[in-house]
Amino acid sequence: MTHDPSRRPRVLVARKLFDDVLQPLREACELQYNESDDSATPQQLRAWLRDKQGALITGSERIDGALLDACPELRVVATMTVGYDHVDVPACAARGVVVTHAPDVLDETTADFGMALLLGAVRQIGAAERYLREGLWKRWSAELFAGADLHGSTLGIVGMGRIGRAVARRAALGLGVRILYHNRRRLDPALERESGAEYRGLDELLRQSDHVLLALPYSAEARHLIGAAELAHMRPGSTLVNIGRGGLVDEPALAAALHSGHLGAAGLDVFEGEPTPNPVLLDAPRLLITPHIASASLPTRRAMVRLAVDNLLAVLGGGAALTPVPAPGA
Ligand code: DGY
Repeated sequence: MTHDPSRRPRVLVARKLFDDVLQPLREACELQYNESDDSATPQQLRAWLRDKQGALITGSERIDGALLDACPELRVVATMTVGYDHVDVPACAARGVVVTHAPDVLDETTADFGMALLLGAVRQIGAAERYLREGLWKRWSAELFAGADLHGSTLGIVGMGRIGRAVARRAALGLGVRILYHNRRRLDPALERESGAEYRGLDELLRQSDHVLLALPYSAEARHLIGAAELAHMRPGSTLVNIGRGGLVDEPALAAALHSGHLGAAGLDVFEGEPTPNPVLLDAPRLLITPHIASASLPTRRAMVRLAVDNLLAVLGGGAALTPVPAPGA
């Protein structure tokens, strides 16, 4: 379709977001706004997007080739998330649809939560609170919820992008933690020095760390990156924390490692099958699990939506995306 600059572009906002942050979009575009906080069904999404040039989505809306084929006018999909595994980027590229995401603005907030989840898991804060609320606490006892320490330990970070590095900074500077890291590409020496982190192969990192934190994006190659074999290589009593994507971890294997006592604790902010956790997770001991909220501070969530709005306005206005997703294969 040829772009007619005299017409206001039609844009779908697929979920309830921050009304005031959407205002510039409302002024420049014809907006269809799903003001409900429920995610759209694939059928609804298809019907709503059929005549749209732009879409603002969250991580709950899936964009694939079949949907794109039903939406021939679509020019830009802006997800308010940094992760974009819910968007088929090659299918978009093949149809000339620009995909943008929301990197950088959530790094510090997500790293704060990564530290909270790590500390909460290591020190069993969730289980201890439940124990107290359920009226089970009868007396102080020297071994009650006595687990590992975080300070002075070795933390292995898998995925040393901006979020991983922000976690590393907090752990090293705040708690004297030694940082090992594993990444698809090794950091350049200056960044490695600045992070105070030592590179390791994944297996070495698992064997040498007291705690392991996953902060990498999901990709088909990273599916179940941490399975039974990898968990077996982790140190007895160690902790696994995942703030990346649920699909990185084999959940039944994780639950088994917690039941056997091989793992000391685990913290998951993400899991396969969100929003419904696999029952094996809910039955597992010493697991702190939260509903995908690592980036959920109000200023950060607003900044994520603002960046998606700015991306839509830039592309629909004929300019370049501010934060396009990396090209497939990059
Ligand atoms: C992201 O931005 O990818 C976070 O995981 C929130 O979905």
